[in-house]
Amino acid sequence: MEKKPIIRVRNMVAKYGENTILQDINADFYPQQVTVILGSSGCGKTTLLKNILRLYQPESGSIEMFGVETMGMEETAFEALLGRMGMLFQNGALLNSLPVYDNIAIPLEQHTCLPPEIIRRIIEVKLNLVNLSHAINMLPSELSGGMRKRAALARAIALDPEILFCDEPSSGLDPLTSAAMDNLILKLKNQLKMSIVIVTHELASIHRIADRIIFLDQGKAVFSGTLQEAMNCNIPAVLTFFEVGKF
Ligand SMILES: Nc1ncnc2c1ncn2[C@@H]1O[C@H](COP(=O)(O)OP(=O)(O)O)[C@@H](O)[C@H]1O
Ligand SMILES: [Mg+2]
Repeated sequence: MEKKPIIRVRNMVAKYGENTILQDINADFYPQQVTVILGSSGCGKTTLLKNILRLYQPESGSIEMFGVETMGMEETAFEALLGRMGMLFQNGALLNSLPVYDNIAIPLEQHTCLPPEIIRRIIEVKLNLVNLSHAINMLPSELSGGMRKRAALARAIALDPEILFCDEPSSGLDPLTSAAMDNLILKLKNQLKMSIVIVTHELASIHRIADRIIFLDQGKAVFSGTLQEAMNCNIPAVLTFFEVGKF
C-alpha cells in the first residue's frame, strides 16, 4: 500500500466482561479511502468501532491513530484526537426534543468557542452539503428516515473530522435513499478528503463506495484488502457474502 495507515490496529482484543468478542484484530485504515467493515450480525463490527473510539476500552493490543499510539493515552490527550473524528451512530442518535439546528450545534458549542453567527454559518453549510437546508428548524420526529440519517451525518461532520465512522448508515433506507447516502459519503471522501470507515451489509453500497474491505468472522479479521481482492479470495465466509449477499 502506498500510503501510511491513518488508523493501525494490532492484536487488539475486545471484551464485554468475561466475554471475548474480538481476538487479535489486525486492521489498517488508509487516508482518503472508504474502508467497509463486513461480517455477520453480532460478530463485533460495532464493537470494533467503539473500541477504536474508546467508547469501550480495548482489553489489549495497539491502536495507532494519526501515527500516535492511543492505548494507555491519557483521557485529555485522547479527547484532542477525538476532535479529529466524527461518528454517525447506528440509530442516528439525534435528540428528539431539539430541532435539527440545535442538534448540529451541540458539537460546535461543546468543542469550540466560536461565536453564534459563525456556528450558524457552519450549520447552514453542513446542512447544504447533506441537502437538508429546508429542514433546519424541523424536529427529528418530522423527518423521514433518510432525512434523519442526513441530519445525523451533518452533525457528525460539524467539526470537519479527518476520519468519519458510520455504523450502518443505510440500514432501514429504501434503495434510492440508500444510494443518495452513498453519494454523500463519496462526496465527503472526494471533496472534503475524509477517510471513512463504514459498517454496512448492503452489497450495492459496498460496490459503490468500498475501496477496502475488512471482514470479521468469529472474532477475527479474516480478510483485509481491496474489494477486488475480496471477491477473488478463497476465504469461505467472504465468498459466501459476495455470492449470496445475505446473512
Ligand atoms: N454493551 C455490551 N455489553 C455486552 N455485550 C455486548 C454489548 N454490546 C454488544 N455486545 C455483544 O457483543 C457481540 C458483538 O456485538 P456488536 O459489536 O454489536 O455486533 P455487530 O455490530 O457486528 O452486529 C454480540 O454478541 C453482542 O450481544
Ligand atoms: Mg452493529
